Amino acid sequence: MAKQNAVVTGYGFYAPPRVVTNHDLEKMVDTSDEWISSRTGIKERHFAGDGETTSTMAVRAAKAALERAHMRAQDLDLVIVGTCSPDYLFPATACLVQSALGAERAGAFDVEAACTSFVSALALANGMILGGMARNALVIGAETLSRLLDFKDRTTCVLFGDGAGAVVLEASNASVGIESAVLHADGSKGELLYVQAGATKMPASKETVEQGLHFIRMQGGEVFKLAVKSMCDAAEEALAEAGVTTEDIDILIPHQANVRIIDAVARRLHFPPEKVFVNIQRYGNTSAASIPIAIAEAADQGRLKKGDRVLLVAFGGGFTWGASVMEWWGVPIPDRREKSIVDRAARTVDDLLDRVRLPS
Ligand code: UT7
Repeated sequence: MAKQNAVVTGYGFYAPPRVVTNHDLEKMVDTSDEWISSRTGIKERHFAGDGETTSTMAVRAAKAALERAHMRAQDLDLVIVGTCSPDYLFPATACLVQSALGAERAGAFDVEAACTSFVSALALANGMILGGMARNALVIGAETLSRLLDFKDRTTCVLFGDGAGAVVLEASNASVGIESAVLHADGSKGELLYVQAGATKMPASKETVEQGLHFIRMQGGEVFKLAVKSMCDAAEEALAEAGVTTEDIDILIPHQANVRIIDAVARRLHFPPEKVFVNIQRYGNTSAASIPIAIAEAADQGRLKKGDRVLLVAFGGGFTWGASVMEWWGVPIPDRREKSIVDRAARTVDDLLDRVRLPS
């Protein structure tokens, strides 16, 4: 059998309709559009509406990705959701998505590496496909961080947003696919960015709620310094593992946490600005969703074309960081083109979401 590679055959994203601008935040907390824009690059972000959750946004992004790949949910082998803001501690958000989509043959689980979750999930799916354990995987990054924000803490509440992005990854001998994937962690730095209460070490109680311990806390300056170094290190490692250099990369898609971090990384790696994808101004930091949303937007805008080589690089709480080089495919594999007819007849997203029945 010819060597199989894992290629992206479909992509999609969803941003909830509610847009919150910097000016809206000025009315909630002691901040200014000038401070947020100049320190982070963010102008606005999307917040989930009533009834929207990480799983419902993930389903919308996933449906778009499946349609683009001409893939039926019933043919999926794996559903992986990267998230640090799941609907529940358990069941996994991926199980809710699997059920909503009707992916009845698929295994489903979440990957939690904060903002590095999508890159981690992609590396895992790639490994499972290369190892012959799966023919395909739906890989999603989805977050509802607005519900973990303390709107009295101006150092965090202006930074984050909600949304979801998804890719379909498939075994193929038709293309190069994912060429490298590197992951790293330093758990000794967990307290730089974390949510203290609400799990098993510090279960929810009247006191934890009163003390605001269910919100995201971050030492932003420390995270900033580590972010630049770890992203550069991971990018260089992924390039070396793929046997390529910066010049061979058509587009750098970094995690969107702060435009100053992105600029510093691009400068150090010698990427000219036109090769760097930035959309943080419209979404803020959507954590695990930021890279798949950026992938989908870059492809929609024609900035990511079939045959292009892309470098993904992320960092996040944990502390975690990772990078991946891939040749972009982005279209259905040829022998499945006609299946699109079946897909087009599939249910609407609202029909799909009706299938998830857990207490709200
Ligand atoms: O995905 C991973 C998640 N996290 C990140 O990537 C975050 C990485 N860190 C950062 O992006 C930046 O460190 C921040 C954007 C969080 C902060 O920017 P900074 O340039 O490092 O500012 P700073 O924390 O040094 O604060 C400077 C000043 C402080 O006032 P004083 O002490 O100098 O008087 C802050 O209190 O800015 C103040 N400040 C604000 N002022 C207006 C902090 N937040 C705000 C705010 N509005 N929202």
